[in-house]
Amino acid sequence: MDRQMGCSVAEPVRAARRVRASYEADLGELRAFLPGRVPLDELPPVLEPYLSACAQLPARYPAGNGGVRRWLEREFARDDPGVRNAIPGLSDAERDRLMTALSVLGHTFRWDCVPPAPARFEERHISLPPGLAGPWTALARSCGHPRVGTTWSLHLCNWAMTDRSGGAAYRPEELSADNVRLAHNWLLPPADAHLERFSTSFVLMEAQGAAVLRHLVGAVEALGCHRPDEAVASLEQLHGAMKAMTITFSRNVRRATVDPATWLEMVQPTFPWSAEAEEPGRVEAGPSGSQVGTIQALDAVLGVGGGSSVAQLAKVGRRYMPVPHRRFLQTLDEVGPVVRAVVCRFRCDELTERFNDCIAALASFRSTHQARGAQYLRTGAGTGARASTGLTIGVEDDDPVATFNGAMAARRAETEAASLASVAQSRGPGADLTGCAGMAPAPPGACSRATEQRSWRR
Ligand code: HEM
Repeated sequence: MDRQMGCSVAEPVRAARRVRASYEADLGELRAFLPGRVPLDELPPVLEPYLSACAQLPARYPAGNGGVRRWLEREFARDDPGVRNAIPGLSDAERDRLMTALSVLGHTFRWDCVPPAPARFEERHISLPPGLAGPWTALARSCGHPRVGTTWSLHLCNWAMTDRSGGAAYRPEELSADNVRLAHNWLLPPADAHLERFSTSFVLMEAQGAAVLRHLVGAVEALGCHRPDEAVASLEQLHGAMKAMTITFSRNVRRATVDPATWLEMVQPTFPWSAEAEEPGRVEAGPSGSQVGTIQALDAVLGVGGGSSVAQLAKVGRRYMPVPHRRFLQTLDEVGPVVRAVVCRFRCDELTERFNDCIAALASFRSTHQARGAQYLRTGAGTGARASTGLTIGVEDDDPVATFNGAMAARRAETEAASLASVAQSRGPGADLTGCAGMAPAPPGACSRATEQRSWRR
């Protein structure tokens, strides 16, 4: 085999083709970690009771309004065969809609009211009413994940647009804080607006993620086809899109939009599951940032290591993502090392720098998220409010901010460590050619911007 620096000459071309094919097949026509159409407003009549129960939640769920357990036990006392029979014939959009409604009802049942009673935090087994447990279990099995709310069902499919109806076409770049609303809100004013802004911030982040993915795939293709100048341009665009995504995150989750005390007391508690779902002894977490696809895609292509606890959570998080999204990420995992090898191969400082800029932008997202997350968790200190993500932070944590900061700092350090050495550094005495060891250079003239490369060849 013609091997030059860690991968055969044909391997990058094959990798680029595989990424393009999976991007087009597995991320739908929008090429994003978002539903292909505006989530539906309606379901077939036999399933409508789930939507109308969701609509009643704000009147019942906030503490002092009676809680939802007894009411949902009455409403869904029977595992209706009509409902079960309807599930196999649903379209993908209808399944997503039903899954969101069942997850909203399941999670609000699990906590009964917000703020939850202390006893709820101790519960590890939840006896759902048969009319919720039956269809939710069947649907979760058909989606290939445990019966628990996910980032996909509770955030990324739980929205509507103000200017068009469910099922309508949209473009990710059309979504904004002005036209995206939460489809099912379970809180009353004024807390409902804080839940809406927190949850839709995941949607807006993945909407920005569409541009990130486009340039990421563009860069992989340019590298795979040995077009370094084009790769430099794609990496520059990728860097710009990543910065825009971080700005979106930081604009949508800040004191002025999501009040930290309201978030901690009223918004956050419903999201963790923190109990068994189906498998006895296995406590399921619920939705989490570790199920955000665009960040996982960047980690895979940029070659960020997987040793930290947050990296391990991301691996577990895949289990809760839609199967086609998992396939796309798996493809990126496989081609990531080839991409790095190709960047090394060109020995072109500009290309290496642009690649490293993207790694720095990912580390910068992580710094911003860490600072923001700590601000929200810190609000709980001394108030008795209990925060748990069910993953990094448990209710028994004495110092959730320290736990969070430690885990996030380790992930950021792991991200920064993925940077490649420049050509000059890699030639220095005792240089550690991070990620490039033993790789032969690309053919002369391969990178027109490579001053370093030209002088090195003399
Ligand atoms: C309100 C403030 C927030 C807090 C306190 C917070 C907290 C956390 C925690 C504790 C984790 C570790 C995983 C877990 O235990 O679930 C995490 C991970 C993550 N969160 Fe957040 N989060 C917040 C808001 C957000 C938002 C709005 C987004 C995206 C729109 C987001 C994106 C992520 C991502 C991508 C990860 C994976 C970690 C990484 O790859 O570095 N977070 N977050």
